[in-house]
Amino acid sequence: MKIGATLRYSPLDHVARWFGRFLPKGLYARALIIIIAPVILLQSVVAYVFMERHYQLVTRRLSSAVTADIAALIDIYESYPQDKDTSTLSRIASERLQLDVDILRNTDLPPPGPKPFFDILDETLTDELRRQIDRPYWVDTVGRSSYVEVRIKLDRNDVMRVLARRSQAYASNSHIFLVWMGGSSFVLLGIAILFLRNQIRPILRLAEAAEALGKGREIEFRPRGAREVRQAGHAFLEMKRRIERNIEQRTTMLNGVSHDLRTILTRFKLSLVFLGQSPEVEDLKRDVDEMSRMLEGYLAFARGEGGDAGEQAVATDLRQLLEEVQSDAERQGHVTELDIVGDPMITVRPDAFRRLLFNLVGNAARHGDRIEISANHETRWLVLHVDDDGPGIPADMREEVFKPFVRLDEARNQDEGGSGLGLAIARDVARSHGGDIVLGESPLGGLRATVRLPA
Ligand SMILES: Nc1ncnc2c1ncn2[C@@H]1O[C@H](COP(=O)(O)OP(=O)(O)OP(=O)(O)O)[C@@H](O)[C@H]1O
Ligand SMILES: [Mg+2]
Repeated sequence: MKIGATLRYSPLDHVARWFGRFLPKGLYARALIIIIAPVILLQSVVAYVFMERHYQLVTRRLSSAVTADIAALIDIYESYPQDKDTSTLSRIASERLQLDVDILRNTDLPPPGPKPFFDILDETLTDELRRQIDRPYWVDTVGRSSYVEVRIKLDRNDVMRVLARRSQAYASNSHIFLVWMGGSSFVLLGIAILFLRNQIRPILRLAEAAEALGKGREIEFRPRGAREVRQAGHAFLEMKRRIERNIEQRTTMLNGVSHDLRTILTRFKLSLVFLGQSPEVEDLKRDVDEMSRMLEGYLAFARGEGGDAGEQAVATDLRQLLEEVQSDAERQGHVTELDIVGDPMITVRPDAFRRLLFNLVGNAARHGDRIEISANHETRWLVLHVDDDGPGIPADMREEVFKPFVRLDEARNQDEGGSGLGLAIARDVARSHGGDIVLGESPLGGLRATVRLPA
């Protein structure tokens, strides 16, 4: 057997996926469908079988009995002509058979009335009349009246008119069965929905808590519900605690390291002062300065400047933030355009997010003259572009520059330059909000940095 063959999708999978596209996506709705669909199916089958077999059968038997009675009455009428005014016949009919019988002399059958569209009574009754009596007849079952009228043409232009109660010929109270069935299934569905809600709510809560953690937001969460759900909840909490512990450990360690290294660097600088003036000493001093700057930058980054420095996500005015960034860039002499579409309120950690913006716009300002910032927050996602008209970054370097300390500027211009942490921090901020940053080509000719955040 080839393994490859078993991995391929079978036609059944395709059908399932095609169906999946039309199914609701929520767990609650899906669970409801799982309950409702079989109930409806079962009810339809039961109702169909019932209507088809029982209901039709009963109606046929009843109609057949009434028709047999009528046939007997006709026989009596024709066999005993001495009953001149047919009073005996009427009496027997009404007392024994609960039928109201008249003989109409010298008349004809009325023209056939309108046929009801689908009426099982009309159908079976006419069937039976044709089968058992085989004379011209006229039937009126239309309307809501509780009587059914049958006229039979006799010999010598006489017509026998028979009024029967509708319930005599028709299984008339069968709808009660359907009412009971529908009603009870509604009650059961209601109960099922109530229970289902209570079972599903803890799962939704867990999903919310996990999503919030991914976005760096804090929400209260306590495991509840069925055993497995609670288990998952506890596992989630344990994971969250471990992450927090890790962060804490890292911070403490970094604080220790930075303290120790700073002390040594300070001693270095002091010693250098005592060494006096010479080109070598100047070089050494520059290197030491560079080193301490890098150290500060690295420590800041590793401490999680961008991400989880304990800041809480709050509703923040994007417009205000961006205008601040814009005026800052304009002060440095850059033409800066700003465009915001959709809701300007976003939920982010304001300081971290500001750092992200300043890093991206700072890069654009360093490399280009014109800057365009456009934000779109029409959906649950905020999409933000920062465009410039600088040299851009070649496609194969666009991931590389996110690494800490990676700078392409070295070759371009030596003097002004940062530490190469800006993009690393910006990406860290975006990811800690549950989003990301990607680089691309700008319509302005330079670099386009695109930030996507659930906000
Ligand atoms: N808008 C841009 N246009 C062209 N190159 C860019 C742009 N933004 C970043 N780069 C390149 O990517 C490199 C990394 O950028 P990053 O922001 O991480 O560091 P930096 O700007 O050099 O230093 P820092 O931001 O820490 O002051 C830069 O050195 C630069 O070469
Ligand atoms: Mg930068």
